[in-house]
Amino acid sequence: MIPYFQTEGCTLYHTDVLEADIPSCSIDLIVTSPPYNVGIEYSSYEDSKALDEYLEFSRSWLTRCWEWLKPDGRICINVALDTTTPTPFSLGATMTTLAQEVGFRLGFLVKRLCAVCDGAGRGDYSALQGALAEAI
Ligand SMILES: C[S@@+](CC[C@H](N)C(=O)[O-])C[C@H]1O[C@@H](n2cnc3c(N)ncnc32)[C@H](O)[C@@H]1O
Repeated sequence: MIPYFQTEGCTLYHTDVLEADIPSCSIDLIVTSPPYNVGIEYSSYEDSKALDEYLEFSRSWLTRCWEWLKPDGRICINVALDTTTPTPFSLGATMTTLAQEVGFRLGFLVKRLCAVCDGAGRGDYSALQGALAEAI
């Protein structure tokens, strides 16, 4: 894989998670904000999949992450607890169940408080950072 960016102690790759060539059991921590399947217009990803297809895609990337993580590795998955597009759907519960089926053990759920950000996701994330630091 060709690095997208490299500096001392840090290499970034810009690639498809389903294609990435990463050695098994080599990663301590994965932090990810995966697609929510809510119809956002991405340039190269269809975000309005049929539920079965979305679940299959999610299971695929979760499985890859499971294989890449060291035995004591962790994953932080940032998803909305609930979505309403195209219909009300408990994304948080579904993603948690999928992750557990792949092999992950649930550590913490950190609930994002609307009070800390505005509608565009900007705002004061200090409370969230503290909760995440504790969870990790
Ligand atoms: C919810 S967004 C995350 C946005 C990101 N947190 C940000 O602030 O820009 C989901 C992202 O996953 C990307 N994505 C979808 N399929 C992917 C894949 N197979 N491999 C890597 N990224 C993918 C989408 O292009 C989109 O940028």
